[in-house]
Amino acid sequence: MTDPRSLVRPATVRDVDTIASIYAQVVRDTSASFEETPPTRVEILRRMAAPPRLPWLVAEHRSRIAGYAYASRHRQRPAYRWSADCSIYLDPGHRFVGLGRLLYERLITELAELGYVSLFAAIALPNPASVRLHEALGFEALGVFRRVGYKHGAWHDVEWWQRRLADPPDDPSEPHEWRPGGPS
Ligand SMILES: CC(C)(COP(=O)(O)OP(=O)(O)OC[C@H]1O[C@@H](n2cnc3c(N)ncnc32)[C@H](O)[C@@H]1OP(=O)(O)O)[C@@H](O)C(=O)NCCC(=O)NCCS
Repeated sequence: MTDPRSLVRPATVRDVDTIASIYAQVVRDTSASFEETPPTRVEILRRMAAPPRLPWLVAEHRSRIAGYAYASRHRQRPAYRWSADCSIYLDPGHRFVGLGRLLYERLITELAELGYVSLFAAIALPNPASVRLHEALGFEALGVFRRVGYKHGAWHDVEWWQRRLADPPDDPSEPHEWRPGGPS
């Protein structure tokens, strides 16, 4: 994807309404997210700033926000702190033109620079576009949780994927908090 009219940048407060609107459609109309009520802009702002601070990125196409991707804490207990989860959502009019790849390449680079070692993604099946995107970006399928969620009148399987960001160090230094303006 080299369309010069597209770029990826850190999300800001000004992007929250568009992020909320893209995500609301996914929550209401699909089972790609297991949330049932679209979060408010206040809740999205809370998630963006939740510790540990992790990247939230938007893709712009022709100066309009086409989608976003972010990382979040993998699990609460401290030994998990070198692992993160990721999510990605594109506006339906901007899918399948390489923006997903562009967002994930930047997300992966930023997380590796912060000192994270593993990145995880949970994909509610079926979702061939998401499966292909994760394969293309070097994620490996770990296994499927069978019939683990019920939404829109059906049970859904969830497949977990892992992307190694670095060889696990014997004595890892603490991961850094993300700073939207650049490296910490
Ligand atoms: C999943 C999603 C993020 C993919 O992003 P995208 O910008 O459409 O994907 P890209 O154009 O960057 O393509 C990435 C790869 O997936 C493939 N792909 C994209 N859409 C596809 C589809 N519908 N079916 C099969 N493969 C597809 C592309 O060919 C590409 O593979 P390649 O690099 O081998 O050519 C996007 O479709 C989306 O937002 N879907 C709805 C929300 C969602 O499901 N989010 C993920 C939750 S786990």
